[in-house]
Amino acid sequence: MRTIKVNLGERSYPIHVGAGLLPRMGEFLQQVGCRGKIAIVTNPTITALYLKPVEGALSRSGFKVTSVLLPDGEEHKNLNSLSVIYDRLIAERFERDSAIVALGGGVIGDLTGFAAATFLRGIPYVQVPTTLLAQVDSSVGGKTGVNHQEGKNLIGAFYQPRLVLIDVEVLPTLPRREFVAGMAEVIKYGIIEDPHLFAFLEQNLAGFLALSSELVEEIIATSCAIKAKVVEKDEREENYRSILNFGHTVGHALEALTGYGRFLHGEAVAVGMVQAASISLSQGFCDERSLGRIRQLITAAGLPSEIPPDIKPPGLVKSMEVDKKSSGGRIKFVLCEAIGKTRFHWLSPEEIVSQLKA
Ligand code: NAD
Ligand code: GLY
Repeated sequence: MRTIKVNLGERSYPIHVGAGLLPRMGEFLQQVGCRGKIAIVTNPTITALYLKPVEGALSRSGFKVTSVLLPDGEEHKNLNSLSVIYDRLIAERFERDSAIVALGGGVIGDLTGFAAATFLRGIPYVQVPTTLLAQVDSSVGGKTGVNHQEGKNLIGAFYQPRLVLIDVEVLPTLPRREFVAGMAEVIKYGIIEDPHLFAFLEQNLAGFLALSSELVEEIIATSCAIKAKVVEKDEREENYRSILNFGHTVGHALEALTGYGRFLHGEAVAVGMVQAASISLSQGFCDERSLGRIRQLITAAGLPSEIPPDIKPPGLVKSMEVDKKSSGGRIKFVLCEAIGKTRFHWLSPEEIVSQLKA
């Protein structure tokens, strides 16, 4: 097992990454001061696979466990699901020192974190992420929230968990497409912060895709350490944390324009990263070789790298303009100068349209 610490003063917490951690959950929760009542928030997909062992592990450690099942899917990351969680916490008489466990992907993690942030003005919660995306990204850093019909993640709070517990043994049941989509965020960490991680991925891609336990553990731990470092420098995304949005400006626009039904988030980000690298080249910030390596790794991972021909740059840019990262008519891009080095750059809609590669 590897442990990474997120250093945020009194809001600091450990991230444990390893194999076979779910059956040891009770002991880890006790180590961070949880006791008494625990609510596990999850969905039917995860319930069928992992809920029993998790409930068993917590009960064996003396916790009084209740499980809250929400329907599976991004469309349920909303205020209704939040009400279901609050109702149960109230019915079970949860108090300020009772804790909630998020057992699932980013949807469950974001919802549970926001419930924890707001119930009784804040109770402890623990992230137990079960998708690759949630393990390397959404479970770390304390962004919590729900969607509104007018947009994604419009209601939320920064609220850090007490612990992130990553068991790599849940990954074999994750649908392949979901795993590959999560890889986009791993590749992103290499591009924005760590040329060694990027080269390691180039060399070990086959082993990672084959879920070689040791490799997966190392790559997830390295990704979490990078995210932790970024969050420590800028917890509330005043500026620096937005380097994590590399590839997301085009990615979000692609998701929105296609009604969130065609691309998984990581797939759209993969296309966005190639576009961001390509714009970086056009702006004279990075060289051909960096763009080539980024495109090559993304393609080799099985991720898309091109904007589909039916999506036209002007439409994409319109979608970016309604995103929260635009101001004064210009759009903030995270661009790369080399693998491992990024910079911010503001571009006009006309510049973006002319530089997006169809
Ligand atoms: P998800 O939570 O919808 O999970 C994807 C699917 O995989 C679901 O059907 C889920 O039930 C299933 N699943 C999960 N783990 C499984 C396993 N081990 N075996 C089999 N099936 C499994 O999607 P996601 O990609 O994990 O998360 C997406 C969400 O994360 C979005 O709402 C996004 O806004 C949010 N997000 C948040 C942050 C943040 O910083 N808070 C960052 C990135 C994304
Ligand atoms: N996923 C972006 C962030 O946590 O800031």
